[in-house]
Amino acid sequence: MNRIYLDNAATTPVRREVFEAMVPYLTDKFGNPSSIHSYGREARAALDRAREQVATAIGATPEEIIFTAGGSEADNLAIKGTALSMRGRKSHVITSAVEHHAVLHPVEALEKLGFSTTVLPVDSEGMVDPDDVRRAITPETFLISIMYANNEVGTIQPIEEISQIAREAGVLFHTDAVQAVGHIPVDVGSLGVDMLSLSGHKFYGPKGVGALYVRRGVRPTPLLEGGAQERKRRAGTENMAGIVGMGAAIELAVGELEEMLACEEMLRDKLIRGLIQRIPDVKLNGHPTRRLPNNVNISFLYVEGESLLLNLDMQGIAASSGSACTSGSLAPSHVLIAMGIPHEVAHGSVRMTLGRYTQEADIDKVLNVMPGIVDKLREMSPVYVKTECGIKDICAQAHACDVAQPCGE
Ligand SMILES: Cc1ncc(COP(=O)(O)O)c(C=O)c1O
Repeated sequence: MNRIYLDNAATTPVRREVFEAMVPYLTDKFGNPSSIHSYGREARAALDRAREQVATAIGATPEEIIFTAGGSEADNLAIKGTALSMRGRKSHVITSAVEHHAVLHPVEALEKLGFSTTVLPVDSEGMVDPDDVRRAITPETFLISIMYANNEVGTIQPIEEISQIAREAGVLFHTDAVQAVGHIPVDVGSLGVDMLSLSGHKFYGPKGVGALYVRRGVRPTPLLEGGAQERKRRAGTENMAGIVGMGAAIELAVGELEEMLACEEMLRDKLIRGLIQRIPDVKLNGHPTRRLPNNVNISFLYVEGESLLLNLDMQGIAASSGSACTSGSLAPSHVLIAMGIPHEVAHGSVRMTLGRYTQEADIDKVLNVMPGIVDKLREMSPVYVKTECGIKDICAQAHACDVAQPCGE
């Protein structure tokens, strides 16, 4: 069966050109960039070039890039590193309820260490209100961390507005741009951010490598200490193949960004429109227009997202759900809950994220198989009964020809 991959927000495959750029740094060119001999110098040159590629892609200078072991480490460095540098001076951090756990958990860790935190709410489309940010700032605030684009629902935050508020208040601003880089234009200058996280495997580079952009003059305390790598900001022998791969991947992604963006948007909108037209009782999650070009997140009412995913998988379609199986219980996504989506609706949500290998035929296949799968699952659902006029929700008041018992009886 021809498999269809619609989980590009989870990870992307390493593209062929990237793989080929990486191989020499695992084999012949295996030197340590800190060594002074020719092997070392060869590696150092590749490290410098990759740093230049990453910097150029986001409008930074090479000295402002710290390579890390991925997006999570970049977020941790921005948050915990800045907190450590401010210890004894300022004590308050602001973030939002829809951040990735790589931001939320470090913020929670700071709270346990005695810092105070404000987790801002979002509206029903997942947007942070810049006025809420302004109101949350206190004389103790040293950091605001708001993501650029949400990994679950694709909502793009008003980063320029928030950065201006931060700047006026003299507060540092970090954005987790892991889902944005390589997909939408990212320029640290026009965004006005002090720190920005990115991750190689979200734009057809390898896993386990990322970077934190740190504006000149900003100094988060290193989390990893040891050697003098990364100008003493992150110790450890560099992941050369990974870094070279990420450099090549970001250059390629940014080079074809406009074309990819237009193509993904076209397919995304076809998928959203098609699902809404063909299936009753569905709801698009996230902002209708301010959203990532590759993100579709839909709640299918009266359906379990996990069952839908398994059925899609049987058809060779890989997607993801808004629920995470945590310690045996299905916890609905914290993002959907923060957007005020009821638990039962959140449970029926499915995320499909397109990528550079997605074809129009893939979207057609999803549109062909999805109505049948949803119908089948609804027929099996205890909260749905079939009447003469089709499948009806026995809990909903709105259905005119509902002949079933009301809920709870
Ligand atoms: C928004 C966001 N931040 C951070 C991360 C973590 O990145 P990594 O997997 O490179 O640690 C992810 C990965 O899913 C993400 O989507």
